[in-house]
Amino acid sequence: MRIVVTGAGGQLGQVLARELRRGDHEVAALTRAALDLTQREQVLERVGKLRPQAVVNAAGFGVEASEEDPKTALAVNAFAVRTLAEACRNTDATFLHFSSDFVFDGTATSAYRETDRPNPGSVYGATKLLGEWYAQGAPRHFILRIESLFGIPAGKSTIDRMFEDIRAGRTVSAFYDRTVSPAFVDDVAAATRRLLEGRASSGVYHCVNAGFTTWHELAMELCRQIGSPSNVIPVSAETLESKVFRPKFAALSNEKLANLGIELPAWQSALGRALAAPPRSASPIPPSGVRPRAPRS
Ligand SMILES: NC(=O)c1ccc[n+]([C@@H]2O[C@H](COP(=O)([O-])OP(=O)(O)OC[C@H]3O[C@@H](n4cnc5c(N)ncnc54)[C@H](OP(=O)(O)O)[C@@H]3O)[C@@H](O)[C@H]2O)c1
Repeated sequence: MRIVVTGAGGQLGQVLARELRRGDHEVAALTRAALDLTQREQVLERVGKLRPQAVVNAAGFGVEASEEDPKTALAVNAFAVRTLAEACRNTDATFLHFSSDFVFDGTATSAYRETDRPNPGSVYGATKLLGEWYAQGAPRHFILRIESLFGIPAGKSTIDRMFEDIRAGRTVSAFYDRTVSPAFVDDVAAATRRLLEGRASSGVYHCVNAGFTTWHELAMELCRQIGSPSNVIPVSAETLESKVFRPKFAALSNEKLANLGIELPAWQSALGRALAAPPRSASPIPPSGVRPRAPRS
């Protein structure tokens, strides 16, 4: 397939472009410098000229940044998605877009399913939900909700920083009262490729590793796998000084993808594979898209 990847300079975008190329697809990997997605005419023209069979959008405006700058959050997380869906409609391309667990309010007591009602509590979550609705404007579309990515080149995610700290024997503080379903970037990229190559129906899919954990349990599991005596201090998420609402219980069920034969292994095994992976180089991410370093969340 000829595939356009937008947001290709980001954490996920870089890995995706590599994975799709490995699958023998012809990939046009477009960073923000190459194509600003908020420029509707340019996007329609560029995608129109490339005539891809699929467009994969890994661009996004981050959690903290969205709260500070809602206008840009709307432009990138919602209106740019509307434009890409329009471009896909014009070229008859499949549209695959990434969304987030932040569309939920985190009050559930069992893992969220795709049919559960979203109720975002942050600017980021609200604009990502709008993006989901706009993505459905493409006749064939996949909306993949992901969360807590790790195994990223250059390792800037919370979990990747935990890897580093625990390997170095440093003390780690981790929330005992926030639950997530982490997603190994390699597993997300592989699942993305399989969805694009297959015949699944359009819709929303939760694309995370199987199971869920608190941040504290995750840090303890890392210590166990690394064989490190690191000190892990359990702390409450209530101590986090942040103005941004974050869902407390953000576990996602990946059963819908698994029922298609696209199984993402348990998070514990994904941690093991990420730890065993050789260090990967990353092209530098331009500064403006990088989320600020937040405490373990
Ligand atoms: N990382 C996670 O744990 C996580 C969790 C849930 C959902 N997601 C979603 O997954 C997707 C990928 O996340 P990520 O972690 O890879 O994000 P990231 O590292 O911040 O990358 C996002 C990319 O989008 C680009 N971008 C921003 N504005 C743009 C614009 N106007 N035109 C074109 N490109 C633009 C950025 O470019 P610049 O760097 O040049 O600004 C950056 O390269 C996003 O949709 C995000 O919301 C991520």
